[in-house]
Amino acid sequence: MTVPEVEPLRTLDKNGKEITTVGFQRFGFDCEVPLDVVRALYLRPHYVITEAANGDVSDVLDSQEEAGHARFTKGFSAYQSKSIFHPETQSISYTTLTRFPPVKLLPPSQRKRVLVTGGAGFVGSHLVDRLMLLGHEVTVIDNFFTGSKTSVSHWTGHPNFELVRHDVVEPFMIECDQIYHLACPASPPHYQFNAVKTLKTSFQGTLNMLGLAKRTKARFLITSTSEVYGDPEVHPQHEDYWGHVNPIGPRACYDEGKRVAETLTYGFHRQDNVDVRVARIFNTYGPRMNPFDGRVVSNFIVQALRGQDLTVYGDGSQTRSFQYIHDLVDGLIALMNSPETRPVNIGSSDEFTILEFAELVRDIVEKVQREDGERPTRRVQIVHEGLPTDDPKQRQADTNRARQTLDWQPRWTVRMGLEEMVRYYKAKMAEGSL
Ligand SMILES: NC(=O)c1ccc[n+]([C@@H]2O[C@H](COP(=O)([O-])OP(=O)(O)OC[C@H]3O[C@@H](n4cnc5c(N)ncnc54)[C@H](O)[C@@H]3O)[C@@H](O)[C@H]2O)c1
Repeated sequence: MTVPEVEPLRTLDKNGKEITTVGFQRFGFDCEVPLDVVRALYLRPHYVITEAANGDVSDVLDSQEEAGHARFTKGFSAYQSKSIFHPETQSISYTTLTRFPPVKLLPPSQRKRVLVTGGAGFVGSHLVDRLMLLGHEVTVIDNFFTGSKTSVSHWTGHPNFELVRHDVVEPFMIECDQIYHLACPASPPHYQFNAVKTLKTSFQGTLNMLGLAKRTKARFLITSTSEVYGDPEVHPQHEDYWGHVNPIGPRACYDEGKRVAETLTYGFHRQDNVDVRVARIFNTYGPRMNPFDGRVVSNFIVQALRGQDLTVYGDGSQTRSFQYIHDLVDGLIALMNSPETRPVNIGSSDEFTILEFAELVRDIVEKVQREDGERPTRRVQIVHEGLPTDDPKQRQADTNRARQTLDWQPRWTVRMGLEEMVRYYKAKMAEGSL
């Protein structure tokens, strides 16, 4: 079968330099991996739609791969599960990976046993990809409340990988060197679904993981949030600002949950010498984000791709800054391996009003559709709805500490990240799972 010629896509950073790798070499921790390999793990349909007429699936796989996503994944298409959907019987033949991507062969002294709680979620799954490619032994524990097995299933069976269904509210015993503690629902509809459980996860879950860190002498990193600043009175928010949080509002279970989780973390640090790291993450977006959890980026992209009008809450003058997932994972790994024990903001300082952001998403979706030869029948409009309770008016990260102590700053432009994410959701739509 002949495959259409496709031009590889170049991703440029904020200075116009091509991005070919993610990660960096710092603090004696080499964490650089080729972007194409990372991309091949998410930027491609998980299964092909149908079999070829002659029954030869490899023909279909090759043509779909080349036509749709080879621009991103180049020669790394082998590293994906190639399950086959049969429309005539509405059934799917699942296939696991034919080949795992090459992972680094580290000497035992450099190889870490890493526990990632919440590793089947959006941020966790990207962190797991990175740690696996770097050659570490990774154990994920997750209760699959918002995460899903499929986000890390491409590692199932790999000798360095283990996935355990477990709720962090219950103790967990394992030998490990580093703990990335992410487990906690992160989007308002999810954390408000059961506010008491969110608080339990934040408090009891963090207590359990800190207890484990104390016993194993593992280094412990918690993913806190910019929500600890509440509806801030200082702008941009630096780490020494104590915040302005409504303790009884609908968002309090998350905001106060993370605040008490930080308090616990520093309690263990002071009392028991647990080696801790606290990342205060600002709005992050990227592939594998749940498209239906009400977060603004995925909302806008899915609405625009479906030709629906984009919903802006309030007049759209509230501002947000958005960082791309690869920048966040760089920041988390840098923080874990740095000597910095104070809280560190990890986020973008490029501020957009929500209205500007909606317009940007609409432009990028139109650009991708034009490049793919699609002609939408009408331009989507931007419509306004009432503002939710306690929605912060302004949020922008002061990232001076991350720059000074981690030598970290975001590389991805919002435009490049959005374009990749639009293509990811398009691939999901193409395979029928969105
Ligand atoms: N994505 C962002 O923009 C952002 C911003 C600030 C902070 N964070 C923090 O980063 C972390 C990851 O966020 P995300 O965006 O990947 O969210 P997510 O909802 O996609 O992932 C959270 C993961 O934790 C799991 N989980 C939830 N409760 C659990 C429990 N009790 N036991 C075990 N597993 C549990 C979920 O199933 C899911 O896999 C969270 O701690 C969140 O607070 C994220």
